[in-house]
Amino acid sequence: MRNMLVTGAAGFIGANFVRYCREQYPQDNIVVVDALTYAGNPHNLDGVINEHCTLVAADINDTELMMTLLREKKLDTIVHFAAESHVDRSITGPDAFIEANIMGTYSLLKAARQVWQIEEQAVENHHFHHVSTDEVYGTLGSDDPAFTEETPYAPNSPYSASKASSDFLVRSYHHTYGMNVTTSNCSNNYGPYHFPEKLIPLVILNILHGKSLPIYGDGKNIRDWLYVEDHAQGIDLVLREGRVGETYNVGGCNEWTNIDIVKLICSLIDKRFTGNADLRNTYPACPASQGEECDSLITYVTDRAGHDFRYAIDTDKIRKELGYEPKVTFEVGIEKTLDWYLENPQWWQAVLDGSYRDSADAAKDKDVSDAA
Ligand code: NAD
Ligand code: DAU
Repeated sequence: MRNMLVTGAAGFIGANFVRYCREQYPQDNIVVVDALTYAGNPHNLDGVINEHCTLVAADINDTELMMTLLREKKLDTIVHFAAESHVDRSITGPDAFIEANIMGTYSLLKAARQVWQIEEQAVENHHFHHVSTDEVYGTLGSDDPAFTEETPYAPNSPYSASKASSDFLVRSYHHTYGMNVTTSNCSNNYGPYHFPEKLIPLVILNILHGKSLPIYGDGKNIRDWLYVEDHAQGIDLVLREGRVGETYNVGGCNEWTNIDIVKLICSLIDKRFTGNADLRNTYPACPASQGEECDSLITYVTDRAGHDFRYAIDTDKIRKELGYEPKVTFEVGIEKTLDWYLENPQWWQAVLDGSYRDSADAAKDKDVSDAA
Protein backbone atom coordinates (compact mmCIF):
# COMPACT_ATOMS: atom_id res chain seq x y z
CA MET A 1 0.00 0.00 0.00
CA ARG A 2 1.27 3.45 -0.91
CA ASN A 3 0.48 6.79 0.66
CA MET A 4 0.67 9.23 -2.23
CA LEU A 5 0.74 12.98 -2.55
CA VAL A 6 -0.54 13.83 -6.03
CA THR A 7 -0.07 17.49 -6.93
CA GLY A 8 -2.19 19.26 -9.56
CA ALA A 9 -4.79 16.49 -9.72
CA ALA A 10 -7.75 18.86 -10.06
CA GLY A 11 -6.33 19.47 -13.54
CA PHE A 12 -6.68 17.36 -16.67
CA ILE A 13 -4.00 14.65 -16.48
CA GLY A 14 -3.70 14.51 -12.69
CA ALA A 15 -7.45 13.90 -12.34
CA ASN A 16 -7.32 11.09 -14.90
CA PHE A 17 -4.30 9.63 -13.08
CA VAL A 18 -6.12 9.67 -9.73
CA ARG A 19 -9.15 8.00 -11.34
CA TYR A 20 -6.86 5.33 -12.82
CA CYS A 21 -5.19 4.72 -9.42
CA ARG A 22 -8.49 4.54 -7.53
CA GLU A 23 -9.59 1.79 -9.91
CA GLN A 24 -6.32 -0.15 -10.01
CA TYR A 25 -5.17 0.30 -6.41
CA PRO A 26 -8.17 1.07 -4.17
CA GLN A 27 -6.06 0.23 -1.09
CA ASP A 28 -3.70 3.19 -1.69
CA ASN A 29 -4.24 6.48 0.11
CA ILE A 30 -4.09 9.64 -1.96
CA VAL A 31 -3.82 13.24 -0.86
CA VAL A 32 -4.36 15.64 -3.76
CA VAL A 33 -2.82 19.10 -3.38
CA ASP A 34 -4.05 21.62 -5.91
CA ALA A 35 -4.04 25.43 -5.84
CA LEU A 36 -7.25 25.41 -7.93
CA THR A 37 -6.01 27.95 -10.43
CA TYR A 38 -8.26 28.60 -13.46
CA ALA A 39 -7.22 25.11 -14.69
CA GLY A 40 -8.07 23.36 -11.42
CA ASN A 41 -11.63 22.10 -11.17
CA PRO A 42 -12.79 20.06 -8.15
CA HIS A 43 -15.49 18.51 -10.40
CA ASN A 44 -12.69 16.67 -12.20
CA LEU A 45 -12.50 14.53 -9.07
CA ASP A 46 -16.26 14.03 -8.59
CA GLY A 47 -16.97 10.50 -7.42
CA VAL A 48 -13.41 9.68 -6.32
CA ILE A 49 -13.04 11.82 -3.22
CA ASN A 50 -13.57 9.70 -0.08
CA GLU A 51 -11.70 8.72 3.07
CA HIS A 52 -8.87 7.25 0.95
CA CYS A 53 -8.66 10.20 -1.40
CA THR A 54 -8.78 13.78 -0.15
CA LEU A 55 -8.38 17.17 -1.82
CA VAL A 56 -6.40 19.91 -0.12
CA ALA A 57 -6.74 23.29 -1.81
CA ALA A 58 -3.21 24.63 -1.41
CA ASP A 59 -0.22 25.94 -3.30
CA ILE A 60 2.83 23.69 -3.54
CA ASN A 61 4.86 26.82 -2.80
CA ASP A 62 3.60 26.52 0.80
CA THR A 63 6.62 24.43 1.84
CA GLU A 64 5.59 24.26 5.52
CA LEU A 65 2.20 22.82 4.62
CA MET A 66 3.78 20.33 2.21
CA MET A 67 6.07 19.17 5.04
CA THR A 68 3.15 18.89 7.46
CA LEU A 69 1.16 16.80 4.98
CA LEU A 70 4.13 14.51 4.27
CA ARG A 71 4.69 13.97 8.00
CA GLU A 72 1.13 13.73 9.28
CA LYS A 73 -0.23 11.62 6.44
CA LYS A 74 2.95 9.53 6.33
CA LEU A 75 3.22 10.09 2.60
CA ASP A 76 5.95 8.04 0.93
CA THR A 77 5.30 8.84 -2.75
CA ILE A 78 4.88 12.14 -4.61
CA VAL A 79 3.51 12.26 -8.15
CA HIS A 80 4.03 15.84 -9.24
CA PHE A 81 1.68 17.15 -11.96
CA ALA A 82 1.04 20.68 -10.63
CA ALA A 83 2.09 23.26 -13.18
CA GLU A 84 0.99 26.05 -15.43
CA SER A 85 0.57 24.06 -18.64
CA HIS A 86 -0.65 26.23 -21.53
CA VAL A 87 2.03 27.46 -23.96
CA ASP A 88 -0.03 30.46 -25.16
CA ARG A 89 -0.44 31.72 -21.58
CA SER A 90 3.31 31.37 -21.02
CA ILE A 91 3.88 33.72 -23.96
CA THR A 92 1.57 36.44 -22.64
CA GLY A 93 2.37 35.96 -18.93
CA PRO A 94 5.48 33.96 -18.06
CA ASP A 95 5.59 34.97 -14.36
CA ALA A 96 3.05 32.38 -13.26
CA PHE A 97 5.10 29.66 -15.00
CA ILE A 98 8.27 30.57 -13.13
CA GLU A 99 6.35 30.66 -9.85
CA ALA A 100 4.44 27.38 -10.23
CA ASN A 101 6.77 25.27 -12.36
CA ILE A 102 10.20 26.27 -11.09
CA MET A 103 9.64 27.66 -7.59
CA GLY A 104 6.80 25.20 -6.92
CA THR A 105 8.90 22.17 -7.84
CA TYR A 106 11.75 23.48 -5.75
CA SER A 107 9.42 23.97 -2.77
CA LEU A 108 8.15 20.40 -3.08
CA LEU A 109 11.66 18.97 -3.37
CA LYS A 110 12.72 20.97 -0.32
CA ALA A 111 9.78 19.67 1.70
CA ALA A 112 10.40 16.08 0.57
CA ARG A 113 14.10 16.25 1.37
CA GLN A 114 13.41 17.62 4.85
CA VAL A 115 10.79 15.01 5.78
CA TRP A 116 12.09 11.99 3.88
CA GLN A 117 15.81 12.43 4.26
CA ILE A 118 16.74 14.79 7.10
CA GLU A 119 14.27 14.27 9.94
CA GLU A 120 14.59 11.52 12.52
CA GLN A 121 11.82 9.39 11.02
CA ALA A 122 13.46 9.41 7.56
CA VAL A 123 11.45 7.55 4.94
CA GLU A 124 13.89 5.29 3.14
CA ASN A 125 11.35 3.88 0.76
CA HIS A 126 10.32 7.25 -0.67
CA HIS A 127 9.70 8.06 -4.35
CA PHE A 128 9.37 11.46 -6.06
CA HIS A 129 7.98 11.16 -9.59
CA HIS A 130 8.08 14.28 -11.72
CA VAL A 131 5.67 14.62 -14.65
CA SER A 132 7.22 16.53 -17.52
CA THR A 133 6.81 17.15 -21.22
CA ASP A 134 8.43 16.39 -24.56
CA GLU A 135 8.56 20.15 -25.19
CA VAL A 136 11.80 20.37 -23.18
CA TYR A 137 13.60 18.82 -26.16
CA GLY A 138 12.65 21.69 -28.48
CA THR A 139 11.42 21.23 -32.00
CA LEU A 140 12.01 18.69 -34.82
CA GLY A 141 12.14 19.00 -38.59
CA SER A 142 9.95 16.72 -40.73
CA ASP A 143 12.62 14.04 -41.16
CA ASP A 144 14.40 14.24 -37.81
CA PRO A 145 14.39 11.15 -35.60
CA ALA A 146 11.99 11.27 -32.64
CA PHE A 147 13.13 12.55 -29.21
CA THR A 148 14.95 9.99 -27.08
CA GLU A 149 15.93 10.38 -23.44
CA GLU A 150 19.40 11.36 -24.74
CA THR A 151 18.16 14.26 -26.90
CA PRO A 152 19.72 17.48 -25.55
CA TYR A 153 17.30 19.91 -23.91
CA ALA A 154 16.46 22.94 -26.09
CA PRO A 155 13.23 24.47 -24.72
CA ASN A 156 11.74 27.25 -26.85
CA SER A 157 8.82 28.75 -24.90
CA PRO A 158 8.68 30.14 -21.37
CA TYR A 159 6.48 27.09 -20.57
CA SER A 160 8.99 24.53 -21.83
CA ALA A 161 11.91 26.46 -20.31
CA SER A 162 10.19 26.39 -16.92
CA LYS A 163 9.52 22.64 -17.26
CA ALA A 164 13.14 22.04 -18.29
CA SER A 165 14.30 23.95 -15.20
CA SER A 166 12.07 21.83 -12.99
CA ASP A 167 13.41 18.63 -14.61
CA PHE A 168 16.97 19.76 -13.80
CA LEU A 169 16.06 20.56 -10.20
CA VAL A 170 14.57 17.07 -9.78
CA ARG A 171 17.66 15.53 -11.36
CA SER A 172 19.91 17.49 -9.00
CA TYR A 173 18.07 16.23 -5.91
CA HIS A 174 18.90 12.69 -6.96
CA HIS A 175 22.49 13.39 -7.92
CA THR A 176 23.32 15.58 -4.92
CA TYR A 177 21.12 14.24 -2.12
CA GLY A 178 20.35 10.72 -3.29
CA MET A 179 16.59 11.33 -3.35
CA ASN A 180 14.72 8.53 -5.14
CA VAL A 181 13.39 10.37 -8.17
CA THR A 182 12.08 9.48 -11.61
CA THR A 183 10.87 11.74 -14.41
CA SER A 184 8.60 11.09 -17.38
CA ASN A 185 8.49 13.31 -20.49
CA CYS A 186 5.23 12.86 -22.34
CA SER A 187 3.73 14.00 -25.63
CA ASN A 188 0.34 15.73 -26.14
CA ASN A 189 -2.48 14.12 -24.15
CA TYR A 190 -6.18 14.16 -25.03
CA GLY A 191 -9.29 12.73 -23.38
CA PRO A 192 -11.92 13.54 -20.71
CA TYR A 193 -11.63 16.65 -18.48
CA HIS A 194 -9.30 18.40 -20.97
CA PHE A 195 -9.62 22.16 -20.40
CA PRO A 196 -11.12 23.80 -23.51
CA GLU A 197 -8.26 26.20 -24.14
CA LYS A 198 -6.24 23.31 -25.65
CA LEU A 199 -6.66 22.34 -29.30
CA ILE A 200 -8.83 19.19 -29.19
CA PRO A 201 -11.47 20.21 -26.60
CA LEU A 202 -11.53 23.77 -28.00
CA VAL A 203 -12.30 22.43 -31.46
CA ILE A 204 -15.01 20.03 -30.23
CA LEU A 205 -16.84 22.72 -28.26
CA ASN A 206 -16.45 25.41 -30.93
CA ILE A 207 -17.93 23.08 -33.55
CA LEU A 208 -20.93 22.30 -31.34
CA HIS A 209 -21.54 26.03 -30.90
CA GLY A 210 -20.84 27.05 -34.50
CA LYS A 211 -17.78 29.10 -33.57
CA SER A 212 -14.69 29.46 -35.73
CA LEU A 213 -11.84 26.96 -35.40
CA PRO A 214 -8.61 28.97 -35.09
CA ILE A 215 -5.69 27.28 -36.84
CA TYR A 216 -2.34 28.84 -36.00
CA GLY A 217 -0.13 29.56 -39.05
CA ASP A 218 -0.56 27.07 -41.89
CA GLY A 219 -1.81 24.24 -39.64
CA LYS A 220 1.09 22.00 -40.65
CA ASN A 221 2.68 21.79 -37.19
CA ILE A 222 2.84 18.23 -35.90
CA ARG A 223 2.06 16.78 -32.48
CA ASP A 224 2.17 13.18 -31.17
CA TRP A 225 -1.16 12.50 -29.44
CA LEU A 226 -1.67 10.05 -26.56
CA TYR A 227 -4.92 9.07 -24.85
CA VAL A 228 -4.64 10.34 -21.27
CA GLU A 229 -5.27 6.92 -19.66
CA ASP A 230 -2.19 5.62 -21.46
CA HIS A 231 -0.15 8.40 -19.89
CA ALA A 232 -1.50 7.31 -16.48
CA GLN A 233 -0.50 3.75 -17.32
CA GLY A 234 3.02 4.90 -18.27
CA ILE A 235 3.47 6.86 -15.04
CA ASP A 236 2.20 3.88 -13.05
CA LEU A 237 4.80 1.61 -14.70
CA VAL A 238 7.58 4.08 -13.93
CA LEU A 239 6.40 4.36 -10.31
CA ARG A 240 6.39 0.60 -9.87
CA GLU A 241 9.30 -0.59 -11.98
CA GLY A 242 11.24 2.47 -13.13
CA ARG A 243 14.90 2.78 -12.23
CA VAL A 244 15.64 5.49 -9.70
CA GLY A 245 17.34 8.54 -11.23
CA GLU A 246 16.12 7.69 -14.74
CA THR A 247 13.89 9.58 -17.15
CA TYR A 248 11.37 7.85 -19.43
CA ASN A 249 9.74 9.23 -22.57
CA VAL A 250 6.02 8.44 -22.95
CA GLY A 251 4.18 8.93 -26.24
CA GLY A 252 1.62 7.59 -28.65
CA CYS A 253 3.75 7.17 -31.81
CA ASN A 254 0.77 8.93 -33.34
CA GLU A 255 1.79 12.05 -35.26
CA TRP A 256 -0.80 14.37 -36.78
CA THR A 257 -0.68 17.79 -38.35
CA ASN A 258 -3.01 20.19 -36.57
CA ILE A 259 -5.10 20.77 -39.68
CA ASP A 260 -5.61 17.03 -40.23
CA ILE A 261 -6.70 16.52 -36.66
CA VAL A 262 -9.16 19.41 -36.87
CA LYS A 263 -10.57 18.09 -40.16
CA LEU A 264 -10.91 14.62 -38.62
CA ILE A 265 -12.91 15.98 -35.66
CA CYS A 266 -15.09 17.96 -38.11
CA SER A 267 -15.88 14.84 -40.12
CA LEU A 268 -16.61 12.74 -37.01
CA ILE A 269 -19.10 15.36 -35.83
CA ASP A 270 -20.63 15.62 -39.34
CA LYS A 271 -21.23 11.85 -39.23
CA ARG A 272 -22.71 11.83 -35.73
CA PHE A 273 -25.19 14.60 -36.57
CA THR A 274 -26.37 12.85 -39.72
CA GLY A 275 -29.61 11.09 -38.86
CA ASN A 276 -29.52 12.23 -35.22
CA ALA A 277 -32.31 14.73 -34.62
CA ASP A 278 -31.53 14.96 -30.89
CA LEU A 279 -28.03 16.29 -31.56
CA ARG A 280 -29.33 18.69 -34.21
CA ASN A 281 -31.95 20.06 -31.79
CA THR A 282 -29.49 20.33 -28.93
CA TYR A 283 -26.83 22.14 -30.98
CA PRO A 284 -28.68 24.23 -33.57
CA ALA A 285 -25.66 26.49 -34.24
CA CYS A 286 -23.48 23.56 -35.29
CA PRO A 287 -23.02 23.63 -39.08
CA ALA A 288 -24.01 19.94 -39.20
CA SER A 289 -27.45 20.93 -37.84
CA GLN A 290 -27.90 23.23 -40.83
CA GLY A 291 -26.85 20.76 -43.51
CA GLU A 292 -23.35 22.25 -43.75
CA GLU A 293 -19.97 20.67 -43.16
CA CYS A 294 -18.22 21.51 -39.89
CA ASP A 295 -14.91 22.25 -41.60
CA SER A 296 -16.55 25.43 -42.93
CA LEU A 297 -15.62 26.84 -39.47
CA ILE A 298 -11.86 26.47 -40.05
CA THR A 299 -10.13 29.86 -39.86
CA TYR A 300 -6.41 30.41 -40.28
CA VAL A 301 -5.09 32.90 -37.72
CA THR A 302 -1.74 34.47 -36.79
CA ASP A 303 0.80 31.87 -35.77
CA ARG A 304 1.86 31.28 -32.14
CA ALA A 305 5.13 33.14 -31.41
CA GLY A 306 8.05 30.70 -31.52
CA HIS A 307 5.68 27.88 -32.50
CA ASP A 308 7.54 24.52 -32.33
CA PHE A 309 7.10 22.72 -35.65
CA ARG A 310 7.09 19.08 -34.63
CA TYR A 311 7.22 16.83 -31.57
CA ALA A 312 7.68 13.06 -31.77
CA ILE A 313 8.59 10.62 -29.05
CA ASP A 314 10.78 7.55 -29.25
CA THR A 315 9.26 5.16 -26.67
CA ASP A 316 11.87 2.41 -27.01
CA LYS A 317 13.22 2.74 -23.47
CA ILE A 318 9.89 2.51 -21.61
CA ARG A 319 8.68 -0.26 -23.93
CA LYS A 320 11.80 -2.39 -23.52
CA GLU A 321 12.43 -1.74 -19.82
CA LEU A 322 8.92 -1.56 -18.46
CA GLY A 323 6.71 -3.23 -21.07
CA TYR A 324 4.79 -0.04 -21.83
CA GLU A 325 2.34 -0.25 -24.71
CA PRO A 326 -0.40 2.33 -25.39
CA LYS A 327 -3.74 0.50 -25.12
CA VAL A 328 -6.05 3.00 -26.78
CA THR A 329 -5.59 3.56 -30.51
CA PHE A 330 -6.21 7.07 -31.81
CA GLU A 331 -9.30 5.92 -33.76
CA VAL A 332 -10.86 4.64 -30.52
CA GLY A 333 -9.51 7.39 -28.27
CA ILE A 334 -10.82 10.29 -30.32
CA GLU A 335 -14.32 8.70 -30.48
CA LYS A 336 -14.24 8.09 -26.72
CA THR A 337 -13.25 11.71 -26.21
CA LEU A 338 -16.06 12.95 -28.41
CA ASP A 339 -18.51 10.68 -26.54
CA TRP A 340 -17.32 12.10 -23.24
CA TYR A 341 -17.84 15.73 -24.29
CA LEU A 342 -21.29 14.92 -25.72
CA GLU A 343 -22.29 12.99 -22.59
CA ASN A 344 -20.98 15.53 -20.07
CA PRO A 345 -22.32 18.95 -21.11
CA GLN A 346 -22.74 19.93 -17.44
CA TRP A 347 -18.94 19.72 -17.02
CA TRP A 348 -18.01 21.98 -19.92
CA GLN A 349 -20.98 24.33 -19.53
CA ALA A 350 -19.78 25.11 -15.99
CA VAL A 351 -16.29 25.71 -17.39
CA LEU A 352 -17.53 27.93 -20.21
CA ASP A 353 -19.85 30.02 -18.00
CA GLY A 354 -17.31 30.18 -15.15
CA SER A 355 -19.60 28.60 -12.54
CA TYR A 356 -17.04 25.82 -11.90
CA ARG A 357 -15.18 28.46 -9.89
CA ASP A 358 -17.90 28.18 -7.18
CA SER A 359 -16.72 24.70 -6.25
CA ALA A 360 -13.10 25.87 -6.39
CA ASP A 361 -13.88 28.79 -4.08
CA ALA A 362 -15.76 26.49 -1.68
CA ALA A 363 -12.78 24.11 -1.57
CA LYS A 364 -10.40 27.01 -0.99
CA ASP A 365 -12.56 28.25 1.90
CA LYS A 366 -12.04 24.97 3.77
CA ASP A 367 -9.41 25.29 6.48
CA VAL A 368 -6.33 23.49 5.14
CA SER A 369 -5.18 22.75 8.68
CA ASP A 370 -8.13 20.30 8.89
CA ALA A 371 -6.45 18.28 6.17
CA ALA A 372 -3.10 17.91 7.92
P1 NAD B 1 -3.62 21.42 -16.22
O1 NAD B 1 -3.30 22.85 -16.50
O2 NAD B 1 -4.89 20.84 -16.72
O3 NAD B 1 -3.59 21.17 -14.65
C1 NAD B 1 -2.60 21.72 -13.82
C2 NAD B 1 -3.11 21.67 -12.38
O4 NAD B 1 -2.06 22.17 -11.52
C3 NAD B 1 -4.34 22.53 -12.14
O5 NAD B 1 -5.30 21.79 -11.42
C4 NAD B 1 -3.82 23.70 -11.29
O6 NAD B 1 -4.77 24.23 -10.39
C5 NAD B 1 -2.66 23.05 -10.56
N1 NAD B 1 -1.63 24.01 -10.13
C6 NAD B 1 -1.03 24.98 -10.88
N2 NAD B 1 -0.15 25.66 -10.10
C7 NAD B 1 -0.18 25.10 -8.87
C8 NAD B 1 0.50 25.35 -7.65
N3 NAD B 1 1.41 26.33 -7.53
N4 NAD B 1 0.23 24.57 -6.57
C9 NAD B 1 -0.69 23.57 -6.67
N5 NAD B 1 -1.37 23.31 -7.79
C10 NAD B 1 -1.12 24.06 -8.87
O7 NAD B 1 -2.36 20.61 -16.74
P2 NAD B 1 -2.29 19.16 -17.37
O8 NAD B 1 -2.48 19.26 -18.83
O9 NAD B 1 -3.12 18.23 -16.56
O10 NAD B 1 -0.74 18.85 -17.12
C11 NAD B 1 -0.32 18.24 -15.90
C12 NAD B 1 1.20 18.07 -15.94
O11 NAD B 1 1.56 17.26 -17.05
C13 NAD B 1 1.96 19.38 -16.10
O12 NAD B 1 3.12 19.30 -15.30
C14 NAD B 1 2.33 19.42 -17.57
O13 NAD B 1 3.52 20.13 -17.78
C15 NAD B 1 2.51 17.94 -17.87
N6 NAD B 1 2.24 17.51 -19.25
C16 NAD B 1 1.08 17.86 -19.88
C17 NAD B 1 0.81 17.37 -21.16
C18 NAD B 1 -0.48 17.69 -21.89
O14 NAD B 1 -0.64 17.30 -23.04
N7 NAD B 1 -1.45 18.35 -21.27
C19 NAD B 1 1.74 16.55 -21.80
C20 NAD B 1 2.95 16.25 -21.13
C21 NAD B 1 3.16 16.71 -19.85
O1 DAU C 1 3.70 18.19 -26.01
C1 DAU C 1 3.19 18.20 -24.72
C2 DAU C 1 2.50 19.52 -24.46
O2 DAU C 1 1.27 19.49 -25.19
C3 DAU C 1 2.26 19.79 -22.98
O3 DAU C 1 3.48 19.88 -22.31
C4 DAU C 1 1.44 21.06 -22.79
O4 DAU C 1 1.13 21.24 -21.42
C5 DAU C 1 0.15 20.92 -23.59
O5 DAU C 1 -0.61 22.11 -23.47
C6 DAU C 1 0.44 20.62 -25.05
O6 DAU C 1 1.08 21.77 -25.68
P1 DAU C 1 0.71 22.23 -27.18
O7 DAU C 1 1.07 23.65 -27.32
O8 DAU C 1 1.21 21.25 -28.17
O9 DAU C 1 -0.91 22.03 -27.09
P2 DAU C 1 -2.12 22.94 -27.61
O10 DAU C 1 -3.36 22.12 -27.48
O11 DAU C 1 -2.10 24.31 -27.02
O12 DAU C 1 -1.79 23.08 -29.16
C7 DAU C 1 -1.65 21.95 -30.01
C8 DAU C 1 -1.27 22.46 -31.38
O13 DAU C 1 -2.38 23.15 -31.95
C9 DAU C 1 -0.13 23.46 -31.38
O14 DAU C 1 0.67 23.24 -32.53
C10 DAU C 1 -0.80 24.81 -31.46
C11 DAU C 1 -2.06 24.50 -32.25
N1 DAU C 1 -3.25 25.30 -31.91
C12 DAU C 1 -3.63 25.38 -30.62
C13 DAU C 1 -4.75 26.09 -30.25
C14 DAU C 1 -5.16 26.21 -28.80
C15 DAU C 1 -4.00 25.91 -32.92
O15 DAU C 1 -3.65 25.82 -34.12
N2 DAU C 1 -5.11 26.61 -32.56
C16 DAU C 1 -5.51 26.75 -31.27
O16 DAU C 1 -6.53 27.42 -31.00
